[in-house]
This record gives sequence, structure tokens and C-alpha cells, in this order.
Amino acid sequence: MINPYSAIRPWLFAIDAEKAHEMVLASMTVMSKAGLLKVASGPVCDDPFELMGLKFRNRVGLAAGLDKNAAHIDALAQLGFGFIEVGTVTPKAQAGNPKPRMFRLPEHEALINRLGFNNLGVDTFLSNVQRSRWVNEQGGLIGLNIGKNASTPIEQATNDYVIALRAVYPYAAYITVNISSPNTKNLRQLQSGHEFEQLLTTLKMEQSALAIKHKRAAPMLVKIAPDLEDDQIEAIAKTLNRLKIDGVIATNTTLNRAAVEGHPHAQEAGGLSGAPVLQASNSVIKKLRAALPSKYPIVGVGGIMSAADAQSKIAAGADLVQIYTGLIYSGPQLVGEIAHGLKQLRAAK
Ligand code: FNR
Repeated sequence: MINPYSAIRPWLFAIDAEKAHEMVLASMTVMSKAGLLKVASGPVCDDPFELMGLKFRNRVGLAAGLDKNAAHIDALAQLGFGFIEVGTVTPKAQAGNPKPRMFRLPEHEALINRLGFNNLGVDTFLSNVQRSRWVNEQGGLIGLNIGKNASTPIEQATNDYVIALRAVYPYAAYITVNISSPNTKNLRQLQSGHEFEQLLTTLKMEQSALAIKHKRAAPMLVKIAPDLEDDQIEAIAKTLNRLKIDGVIATNTTLNRAAVEGHPHAQEAGGLSGAPVLQASNSVIKKLRAALPSKYPIVGVGGIMSAADAQSKIAAGADLVQIYTGLIYSGPQLVGEIAHGLKQLRAAK
């Protein structure tokens, strides 16, 4: 089959990565409003799947970070996702790191980014979510991903997560607690020891109170990094299970540069995503699956560039998958390819 994206890609790749990203999202929203995107992307693959009490139309989701302000949900939904995660949003608006802060490594089908949670803050984010027809009229399943402001000291991180959780809860099918971005100073230290325990205990209590207040239970997942030692993964799994956290998303981007050594951008600071992170992410998923009860929900993300890669995530132990960098390299038809691939995998069982 011809992939129209392969004709457009060289043009996009000639432009600065972040500018191209904004241009594509803006054009998609214009096309979607004119009804053109649906025609270009074809029918959604129906492969119903139930997890955490939620009904997913298929098992392929959009990973967080592509639509940080939730401003393009309806356009993105037309690509055929079974669920869409938007954010990371922080309580207050913030500019993120100085530009340039996003780099392509085409030889490796990879990106390095150090955006640093650039976003317009939770109020704008939520008014965008409320404006989405896909979410509010078509039953689209939306995940809202929360983080802390860079200006909040790490010792007070819990405050930011509580503020964000309270704000997003009524609008979320599920909430993701992102503690694994490498681009917010010390954020990843929230993944271990007392800090992890204290943060999740508070958020779990808060989630239970919100469920009563809003008369609806929205699951809360934690998103972790691929750069964790085995004992850290085991400790995370134990805590997640003990505190009855609803699920885990593995993984975020990596700080490891071994797979891209020698590339002119290899030494740019930030998180590496795309093909080079597949094995590391899958390995974290395998370890989580071994350490957690068999039905514990795991969302697998990192380096999915094809249907076969997505199948490898399911084989490692994931229940659902998400993509980001694969979309930049393969284009929107990747969503349908993966959804169909995973549907066939289930049919063959
Ligand atoms: C991300 N990712 C991300 N994750 C998150 O939880 N919050 C965020 O704000 C962002 N921002 C972000 C920006 C950019 C430019 C990229 C490439 C990635 C991480 C993303 O959701 C995913 O976990 C990783 O990129 C690994 O998946 P892929 O890209 O290899 O499919």
C-alpha cells in the first residue's frame, strides 16, 4: 500500500523538529474540521478491550507529550486511536526549556527532546478537553497526564500533583502520574524510596476521596522510566501493588545513549525515544510483569515503530500500547497497522 506520509516526510524533516510538530498538528486540526482527515485515515479498527473498568475501542493509544495542551484531541482521534493521553500538564503554565530542544536522529528512527513540560497550565488544558467532541459526544477515552511545575521545589512535588489531580479528575477516563520525565530537575527521584511511597500514598487517598465526591472511579496510573535497576523495578512493583495503584505505564524516554553513539545529536541533553528504546522498555515491562500479579494493568510504550514491535510489547506483558515517535517516522497509518496487528494476534490465540 502507498503511504502518502512518505511523500510529505522529507519536507517536514527539512524544518526544525518542534516547528514541524506544531505545523502538522495545526494542519491536522484544520483538515479535521473540514472533514478531510477522516477520508485520509480510513475507518477505525474495532477490537474492543476492557481494562481497569474502561472499555477501549482498540489497544493502541497516543502517548503523552504529543498534545501537551489537549488542543488537538479531535484531529488526533481521527487517526483511529483506541485511547488518547494528553499532557503532561502542570498546575501553572510554564515555558519549558530554551529552544532548540527537540532533535531528530533519522538514522536511528529516534528523537531526543528536552522540552521540559512546556504547557499552558491546567485551566486552559481542561477547557480544551471540555471542548472536545470526541471526548464529550463520541465517548472517546481520554487519559490526562499530570506533572509538577519546574519552579516547585522537589520536596513540595506532592502539592503540585494533588492540585493537578483534583483539577483533572472529573474530566479524565484515567489519570497518569508522570514521575519519569528526564527534563524536570530531580523528578525521577520520585520513583524510589520514601518519596515514591509518600507521593503515591497521598495521591491514592486523594483519588479515593475524589471518587466519592464525583461518584465515579477514575483509575490512576504511574509512568516510569526505562533507566531503572532491577531492584528499583521490583520495589516499584511491590509499592504499586500494595497501595492498589490501578496500573503502570512503562516507559518514558531514556537517558542512555549507547544505541546512538557517534550521532551528531547523541550528546544533546534530554530523553531519547523511538527505535533505540524498544528493548529497554520491553525489558522493564517483562520485569514488571514477573513482579506483579498476572492481571495487573501494564501499558507498554517505547520504540514501537511497527505492528511487530507492538506485538513484542504484548509478548513482554503489556495489556495496551501507546506510540509517539513511531508516528513521526512512519506517519498516521501506523495506528491502524498496529491496531489490526494486535487484533490478529488475539484472534490467533
Ligand atoms: C515525550 N514523552 C512524554 N511523556 C510524558 O509522560 N509526558 C510528556 O510531556 C512527554 N513529552 C514528550 C515529548 C516528546 C517530544 C517525546 C518524543 C516524548 C514520552 C512519550 O510519551 C513516550 O513515553 C516515549 O517517547 C517513548 O515512546 P516512543 O516515542 O518511543 O513511542
